[in-house]
Amino acid sequence: MINEQQNTAKTEQKNCKDYLLYSNKTAISSQRIEELLFDKDCRVLTFDTIDSTNLYLKKLAEDGANEKTIVVANHQTNGKGRLGRSFYSPADSGIYFSILLKPNIELKNAVNVTTCAGVAMCLTLEKMFGIKPKIKWVNDIFVNDKKVCGILTEAAVDSDTNKPKYVVLGVGCNLFVPKDDFPTEISDIAGSVVQSKENSIADRNAVIAHFLNVFFELCASLGSSEIYEMYKERMFLLGQKVKVMSSEQFEAEIIDINPDFSLKLKLENGEIFNLNTGEVSVRSLSV
Ligand code: BTN
Repeated sequence: MINEQQNTAKTEQKNCKDYLLYSNKTAISSQRIEELLFDKDCRVLTFDTIDSTNLYLKKLAEDGANEKTIVVANHQTNGKGRLGRSFYSPADSGIYFSILLKPNIELKNAVNVTTCAGVAMCLTLEKMFGIKPKIKWVNDIFVNDKKVCGILTEAAVDSDTNKPKYVVLGVGCNLFVPKDDFPTEISDIAGSVVQSKENSIADRNAVIAHFLNVFFELCASLGSSEIYEMYKERMFLLGQKVKVMSSEQFEAEIIDINPDFSLKLKLENGEIFNLNTGEVSVRSLSV
Protein backbone atom coordinates (compact mmCIF):
# COMPACT_ATOMS: atom_id res chain seq x y z
CA MET A 1 0.00 0.00 0.00
CA ILE A 2 1.29 3.45 -0.81
CA ASN A 3 0.38 6.38 1.30
CA GLU A 4 1.75 9.77 0.49
CA GLN A 5 3.92 10.08 3.56
CA GLN A 6 5.44 6.66 3.12
CA ASN A 7 5.98 7.37 -0.53
CA THR A 8 7.57 10.76 0.12
CA ALA A 9 9.73 9.39 2.91
CA LYS A 10 10.91 6.50 0.78
CA THR A 11 11.66 8.72 -2.17
CA GLU A 12 13.35 11.30 0.07
CA GLN A 13 15.59 8.68 1.62
CA LYS A 14 16.57 7.32 -1.75
CA ASN A 15 16.97 10.74 -3.32
CA CYS A 16 18.79 12.87 -0.82
CA LYS A 17 22.34 11.87 -1.63
CA ASP A 18 21.89 11.74 -5.38
CA TYR A 19 19.92 14.79 -6.36
CA LEU A 20 21.57 18.14 -6.72
CA LEU A 21 18.73 20.33 -7.83
CA TYR A 22 20.69 23.53 -8.28
CA SER A 23 23.79 23.05 -10.37
CA ASN A 24 25.45 24.63 -13.35
CA LYS A 25 24.98 21.46 -15.36
CA THR A 26 21.54 22.27 -16.66
CA ALA A 27 21.84 20.77 -20.15
CA ILE A 28 19.58 17.78 -20.75
CA SER A 29 21.67 14.61 -20.50
CA SER A 30 20.55 10.98 -20.94
CA GLN A 31 23.53 9.79 -18.91
CA ARG A 32 22.68 12.06 -15.98
CA ILE A 33 19.01 11.04 -16.02
CA GLU A 34 19.83 7.31 -16.22
CA GLU A 35 22.31 7.64 -13.33
CA LEU A 36 19.55 9.03 -11.14
CA LEU A 37 16.92 6.44 -12.05
CA PHE A 38 16.20 3.59 -9.65
CA ASP A 39 14.77 1.42 -12.42
CA LYS A 40 17.70 0.33 -14.54
CA ASP A 41 15.38 -1.05 -17.26
CA CYS A 42 14.70 2.51 -18.43
CA ARG A 43 16.44 3.72 -21.60
CA VAL A 44 16.62 7.46 -22.05
CA LEU A 45 17.11 9.07 -25.47
CA THR A 46 17.69 12.81 -25.60
CA PHE A 47 17.40 15.40 -28.35
CA ASP A 48 18.22 19.05 -28.42
CA THR A 49 15.44 19.73 -30.94
CA ILE A 50 12.67 17.42 -32.10
CA ASP A 51 9.19 17.96 -33.53
CA SER A 52 7.40 16.10 -30.73
CA THR A 53 8.67 13.49 -28.29
CA ASN A 54 5.25 11.78 -28.44
CA LEU A 55 5.35 11.54 -32.24
CA TYR A 56 8.89 10.17 -32.17
CA LEU A 57 8.19 7.64 -29.44
CA LYS A 58 5.06 6.38 -31.21
CA LYS A 59 7.26 5.59 -34.22
CA LEU A 60 9.72 3.75 -31.97
CA ALA A 61 6.83 1.85 -30.36
CA GLU A 62 5.56 0.74 -33.78
CA ASP A 63 9.10 -0.51 -34.50
CA GLY A 64 9.00 -2.63 -31.33
CA ALA A 65 10.80 -0.44 -28.77
CA ASN A 66 10.89 -1.72 -25.21
CA GLU A 67 8.64 -0.56 -22.44
CA LYS A 68 10.26 2.26 -20.39
CA THR A 69 11.93 3.80 -23.41
CA ILE A 70 11.93 7.51 -22.63
CA VAL A 71 12.44 10.34 -25.10
CA VAL A 72 13.45 13.75 -23.74
CA ALA A 73 13.93 17.00 -25.65
CA ASN A 74 15.31 20.41 -24.82
CA HIS A 75 13.03 21.98 -27.43
CA GLN A 76 10.01 20.83 -29.47
CA THR A 77 9.02 22.49 -32.73
CA ASN A 78 5.59 20.80 -32.88
CA GLY A 79 4.70 19.91 -29.28
CA LYS A 80 1.30 18.25 -29.12
CA GLY A 81 -1.39 19.03 -26.58
CA ARG A 82 -4.77 17.50 -25.85
CA LEU A 83 -7.75 18.09 -28.14
CA GLY A 84 -5.49 18.85 -31.12
CA ARG A 85 -3.90 21.85 -29.43
CA SER A 86 -0.19 22.61 -29.56
CA PHE A 87 2.14 22.74 -26.57
CA TYR A 88 4.61 25.62 -26.49
CA SER A 89 8.01 24.03 -25.87
CA PRO A 90 10.85 26.58 -26.09
CA ALA A 91 14.51 25.66 -25.55
CA ASP A 92 16.28 25.67 -22.18
CA SER A 93 13.23 26.37 -20.08
CA GLY A 94 11.02 23.32 -19.72
CA ILE A 95 11.05 19.55 -19.51
CA TYR A 96 9.42 17.74 -22.43
CA PHE A 97 9.45 13.97 -22.40
CA SER A 98 7.48 10.86 -23.37
CA ILE A 99 7.46 7.43 -21.75
CA LEU A 100 6.57 4.17 -23.49
CA LEU A 101 4.38 1.91 -21.35
CA LYS A 102 2.81 -1.46 -22.06
CA PRO A 103 0.37 -1.83 -19.18
CA ASN A 104 -2.00 -4.78 -19.07
CA ILE A 105 -5.12 -2.69 -18.51
CA GLU A 106 -8.53 -2.16 -20.05
CA LEU A 107 -8.67 0.76 -22.47
CA LYS A 108 -11.19 2.59 -20.29
CA ASN A 109 -8.61 2.57 -17.47
CA ALA A 110 -5.94 4.38 -19.50
CA VAL A 111 -7.05 7.52 -17.62
CA ASN A 112 -5.31 6.01 -14.58
CA VAL A 113 -1.96 6.48 -16.33
CA THR A 114 -2.67 10.19 -16.85
CA THR A 115 -3.86 10.76 -13.31
CA CYS A 116 -0.92 8.79 -11.87
CA ALA A 117 1.41 11.07 -13.85
CA GLY A 118 -0.43 14.15 -12.56
CA VAL A 119 0.07 13.01 -8.97
CA ALA A 120 3.73 12.11 -9.65
CA MET A 121 4.39 15.57 -11.10
CA CYS A 122 2.75 17.27 -8.10
CA LEU A 123 4.84 15.18 -5.68
CA THR A 124 7.96 16.08 -7.69
CA LEU A 125 7.27 19.83 -7.71
CA GLU A 126 6.29 19.77 -4.04
CA LYS A 127 9.48 17.98 -3.05
CA MET A 128 11.94 19.76 -5.32
CA PHE A 129 10.54 23.29 -5.36
CA GLY A 130 8.57 23.44 -2.09
CA ILE A 131 5.39 24.58 -3.86
CA LYS A 132 1.78 23.36 -3.73
CA PRO A 133 0.64 22.63 -7.29
CA LYS A 134 -3.00 21.90 -8.11
CA ILE A 135 -4.38 19.46 -10.67
CA LYS A 136 -7.00 20.80 -13.04
CA TRP A 137 -9.08 17.90 -14.28
CA VAL A 138 -8.00 15.90 -15.93
CA ASN A 139 -4.39 16.46 -16.86
CA ASP A 140 -3.20 20.02 -16.26
CA ILE A 141 -1.10 21.22 -13.35
CA PHE A 142 -1.49 24.73 -12.08
CA VAL A 143 0.72 26.90 -9.88
CA ASN A 144 -0.54 30.32 -8.79
CA ASP A 145 -3.58 29.95 -11.07
CA LYS A 146 -1.41 29.43 -14.17
CA LYS A 147 -0.93 26.21 -16.11
CA VAL A 148 2.65 24.98 -15.73
CA CYS A 149 2.31 21.39 -16.92
CA GLY A 150 0.23 19.36 -19.35
CA ILE A 151 0.00 15.62 -19.86
CA LEU A 152 -0.95 13.88 -23.09
CA THR A 153 -1.67 10.15 -22.99
CA GLU A 154 -1.98 8.39 -26.33
CA ALA A 155 -2.84 4.70 -26.63
CA ALA A 156 -2.58 2.32 -29.59
CA VAL A 157 -5.27 -0.34 -29.34
CA ASP A 158 -4.81 -4.06 -29.96
CA SER A 159 -7.82 -4.92 -32.11
CA ASP A 160 -7.92 -8.55 -30.83
CA THR A 161 -8.06 -7.74 -27.13
CA ASN A 162 -9.36 -4.15 -27.31
CA LYS A 163 -6.66 -3.39 -24.73
CA PRO A 164 -3.83 -0.89 -25.20
CA LYS A 165 -0.99 -2.35 -27.27
CA TYR A 166 1.09 0.46 -25.86
CA VAL A 167 0.64 3.81 -24.22
CA VAL A 168 2.79 6.87 -24.87
CA LEU A 169 2.63 9.25 -21.93
CA GLY A 170 3.86 12.75 -22.80
CA VAL A 171 4.66 15.30 -20.13
CA GLY A 172 5.51 18.94 -20.68
CA CYS A 173 6.31 21.21 -17.76
CA ASN A 174 7.45 24.84 -17.90
CA LEU A 175 10.08 25.02 -15.20
CA PHE A 176 11.50 28.45 -16.01
CA VAL A 177 10.20 31.60 -17.67
CA PRO A 178 11.08 31.24 -21.40
CA LYS A 179 13.88 33.53 -22.61
CA ASP A 180 11.40 35.48 -24.77
CA ASP A 181 8.51 35.05 -22.31
CA PHE A 182 5.30 33.21 -23.25
CA PRO A 183 3.64 34.27 -26.50
CA THR A 184 0.82 36.75 -25.90
CA GLU A 185 -1.85 34.21 -26.98
CA ILE A 186 -1.05 32.04 -23.96
CA SER A 187 0.46 34.54 -21.52
CA ASP A 188 -2.81 34.77 -19.53
CA ILE A 189 -2.94 31.05 -18.83
CA ALA A 190 0.63 29.72 -19.07
CA GLY A 191 3.05 30.03 -16.17
CA SER A 192 6.25 28.50 -14.94
CA VAL A 193 7.31 26.73 -11.77
CA VAL A 194 10.25 29.07 -11.10
CA GLN A 195 8.94 32.55 -11.64
CA SER A 196 12.09 34.64 -11.48
CA LYS A 197 14.34 34.61 -14.54
CA GLU A 198 17.39 34.91 -12.26
CA ASN A 199 16.66 31.54 -10.61
CA SER A 200 16.61 29.43 -13.76
CA ILE A 201 19.37 27.09 -12.69
CA ALA A 202 17.56 23.98 -11.50
CA ASP A 203 18.96 20.81 -13.04
CA ARG A 204 16.19 19.62 -15.35
CA ASN A 205 17.73 16.12 -15.42
CA ALA A 206 17.17 15.81 -11.68
CA VAL A 207 13.55 16.92 -12.00
CA ILE A 208 12.86 14.42 -14.81
CA ALA A 209 14.56 11.60 -12.90
CA HIS A 210 12.66 12.39 -9.70
CA PHE A 211 9.39 12.40 -11.64
CA LEU A 212 10.20 9.05 -13.27
CA ASN A 213 11.17 7.45 -9.96
CA VAL A 214 7.96 8.57 -8.29
CA PHE A 215 5.84 7.73 -11.35
CA PHE A 216 7.14 4.17 -11.72
CA GLU A 217 6.69 3.58 -8.01
CA LEU A 218 3.07 4.80 -8.18
CA CYS A 219 2.50 2.74 -11.35
CA ALA A 220 2.90 -0.39 -9.25
CA SER A 221 -0.49 0.48 -7.73
CA LEU A 222 -2.17 1.94 -10.80
CA GLY A 223 -5.90 2.41 -10.21
CA SER A 224 -5.56 2.25 -6.41
CA SER A 225 -7.61 4.31 -3.97
CA GLU A 226 -4.34 5.82 -2.64
CA ILE A 227 -3.59 7.48 -5.98
CA TYR A 228 -7.23 8.61 -6.24
CA GLU A 229 -6.98 10.24 -2.78
CA MET A 230 -3.70 11.96 -3.62
CA TYR A 231 -5.26 13.26 -6.84
CA LYS A 232 -8.43 14.47 -5.12
CA GLU A 233 -6.48 16.29 -2.37
CA ARG A 234 -4.74 18.35 -5.03
CA MET A 235 -7.71 19.10 -7.22
CA PHE A 236 -8.14 22.61 -8.54
CA LEU A 237 -11.65 24.09 -8.92
CA LEU A 238 -13.37 21.60 -6.58
CA GLY A 239 -16.56 23.28 -5.33
CA GLN A 240 -16.33 25.95 -8.02
CA LYS A 241 -18.45 26.80 -11.02
CA VAL A 242 -16.84 25.98 -14.35
CA LYS A 243 -17.63 26.20 -18.04
CA VAL A 244 -17.70 22.74 -19.65
CA MET A 245 -16.45 22.80 -23.23
CA SER A 246 -17.69 19.82 -25.25
CA SER A 247 -19.95 19.64 -28.31
CA GLU A 248 -22.16 21.91 -26.19
CA GLN A 249 -20.95 24.47 -23.65
CA PHE A 250 -22.61 24.76 -20.30
CA GLU A 251 -21.94 25.91 -16.76
CA ALA A 252 -21.86 23.59 -13.78
CA GLU A 253 -20.40 23.26 -10.31
CA ILE A 254 -17.70 20.64 -9.69
CA ILE A 255 -18.90 18.84 -6.58
CA ASP A 256 -16.62 15.80 -6.54
CA ILE A 257 -14.37 13.46 -8.49
CA ASN A 258 -15.49 9.84 -8.82
CA PRO A 259 -13.07 6.92 -8.27
CA ASP A 260 -13.01 6.37 -12.06
CA PHE A 261 -11.87 10.01 -12.40
CA SER A 262 -15.09 11.16 -14.01
CA LEU A 263 -16.09 14.57 -12.74
CA LYS A 264 -19.25 14.87 -10.65
CA LEU A 265 -21.04 18.03 -11.70
CA LYS A 266 -24.14 19.83 -10.49
CA LEU A 267 -25.92 21.41 -13.40
CA GLU A 268 -27.76 24.73 -13.14
CA ASN A 269 -31.11 22.88 -12.86
CA GLY A 270 -29.75 20.94 -9.84
CA GLU A 271 -29.29 17.70 -11.77
CA ILE A 272 -26.13 15.65 -11.03
CA PHE A 273 -24.07 14.72 -14.07
CA ASN A 274 -20.90 12.62 -14.38
CA LEU A 275 -18.50 13.93 -17.00
CA ASN A 276 -16.05 11.45 -18.50
CA THR A 277 -12.72 12.37 -19.96
CA GLY A 278 -12.52 12.52 -23.73
CA GLU A 279 -13.24 15.39 -25.99
CA VAL A 280 -14.07 17.79 -23.21
CA SER A 281 -12.34 20.38 -21.09
CA VAL A 282 -13.43 22.53 -18.18
CA ARG A 283 -12.55 26.14 -17.74
CA SER A 284 -12.77 28.26 -14.63
CA LEU A 285 -15.27 31.09 -14.97
CA SER A 286 -12.69 33.47 -13.50
CA VAL A 287 -9.69 32.64 -15.74
C1 BTN B 1 -1.81 19.45 -22.88
O1 BTN B 1 -1.52 20.43 -22.20
O2 BTN B 1 -2.89 19.40 -23.50
C2 BTN B 1 -0.87 18.30 -22.96
C3 BTN B 1 0.51 18.77 -23.27
C4 BTN B 1 1.53 17.64 -23.38
C5 BTN B 1 2.86 18.16 -23.83
C6 BTN B 1 3.92 17.10 -23.82
S1 BTN B 1 5.51 17.77 -24.07
C7 BTN B 1 6.18 16.19 -24.28
C8 BTN B 1 5.18 15.40 -25.08
N1 BTN B 1 5.38 15.60 -26.50
C9 BTN B 1 4.38 16.25 -27.07
O3 BTN B 1 4.32 16.56 -28.27
N2 BTN B 1 3.43 16.50 -26.17
C10 BTN B 1 3.79 16.01 -24.86
